[in-house]
Amino acid sequence: MPVDVLLGLQWGDEGKGKIVDVFTPEYDVVARFQGGPNAGHTLEFEGIKHVLHTIPSGVFRKNCINIVGNGVVIDPITLKKEIESLQKLNVDISSILHISRKAHIIIPTHRILDAASEAQKGKEKIGSTLRGIGPTYMDKTGRNGLRVGYIEDEDFMRRYDKLKSKHEELLEQMNFEYSLDEEEKKFFEAIGLMRTLSFTDSEHMLNRLMKQGKKILAEGAQGSLLDIDFGSYPFVTSSNTISAGACTGLGIAPGNIGRVFGIFKAYCTRVGSGPFPTELNDDTGEQLRKAGNEFGATTGRPRRCGWIDIPALRYAIMINGVTDLIMTKPDVLSGFDKIKVCTSYKIGSKTIDYMPFDFVNAPIEPVYEELPGWKTDLTEVREESNFPAELSNYISYLEKTLEVPVSVVSVGPDRSQTIIRKK
Ligand code: GDP
Ligand code: IMO
Ligand code: MG
Repeated sequence: MPVDVLLGLQWGDEGKGKIVDVFTPEYDVVARFQGGPNAGHTLEFEGIKHVLHTIPSGVFRKNCINIVGNGVVIDPITLKKEIESLQKLNVDISSILHISRKAHIIIPTHRILDAASEAQKGKEKIGSTLRGIGPTYMDKTGRNGLRVGYIEDEDFMRRYDKLKSKHEELLEQMNFEYSLDEEEKKFFEAIGLMRTLSFTDSEHMLNRLMKQGKKILAEGAQGSLLDIDFGSYPFVTSSNTISAGACTGLGIAPGNIGRVFGIFKAYCTRVGSGPFPTELNDDTGEQLRKAGNEFGATTGRPRRCGWIDIPALRYAIMINGVTDLIMTKPDVLSGFDKIKVCTSYKIGSKTIDYMPFDFVNAPIEPVYEELPGWKTDLTEVREESNFPAELSNYISYLEKTLEVPVSVVSVGPDRSQTIIRKK
């Protein structure tokens, strides 16, 4: 059985958590392949609203195995909090959660380094979630990282101290003030909890499950436009958020990737700094933020809002090999007379329909086409036959221009507010 992948096509927060939860009954395994606690994946069902950061979004469904892959970076403190809040909801993760020994650990000084690096950048800061993601991936690629599997070794403390000392030297050079004691205490308590969890060689486990015919869904974090290679560099995260990341982040061979579900909002949002050609710094942007409740699930920061961006979406579809599109939040657009769609970018006298290399500094002006909006509330709609004609028109337009079918439409945050168009 090939492994299916679900990932974001924009700047994150497309609704990945919600849709993974909706899809999970069709799968035996859900596996996160990259990112860390910079992610905030929101699930809503039966009156419960829950945000996951590290733990895969299959965790609320019975009999689903949840794997945190080698490509993920784990903050033990956040993981402990997540486990405790799941326990309050009577979700016992002990038999269903497995963590790759090859995943890297975020230590408290990684988070301090993240803050120091952002402070140094001043106006050019990335707008990081300050969860230590960048410094941890830097230590991974720099071959200094602390891996989950080392927790089982006798010399874990030696490795930890060595890494911490390296960070302390850096922080001194950066002249950054910090205090560590409290965070270190919490860290070692959380390491204590991690010792009770199931560590696994997840690449072996996943390939074995695949051979047994189990259905596996790989869950991405962030979005394609935040990818370290293909995103709006340097305003990106530090991992490969694209479908290839599911291969390296889980140990799945490329030939074993099946469907690639690319999820996007019916408009566009971004948290943190960086280019956003269709951003609306006006009442319409404010209206989207309010109607879409666009505030970060991890940091609570207001999300920047704007119209849908076709050149960027087309690029993300190409890089990921998207086979199925999933559109979320068209309900937020209800009431708009016209909906704008950015079809190309004007840069000086040139008009292009792709993302240019100089996405960050080029004076990009979005070129829009207008489509009629729909007036009706969508949140109670459960059948495609009840879609207003203008919504059907919007979907057809997107399918035609993006050349990929829209298989699922989400019309609200709840599990039940989901319309499957094509199996
Ligand atoms: P993720 O990071 O991709 O999992 O997305 P987030 O959870 O950060 O942000 C998506 C937000 O939109 C969450 O608050 C979801 O509950 C909510 N959401 C998801 N799908 C829909 C939808 O179709 N309509 C509306 N109104 N909200 C949605
Ligand atoms: P999910 O999985 C939206 C953004 C940050 C910042 C940049 C780098 O919930 O979609 P980092 O902390 O990774 O160094 O921040 O990336 N960012 C996200 N934006 N959703 C996310 O995750 C994000 N994870 C990181 O705001 O601009
Ligand atoms: Mg999110």
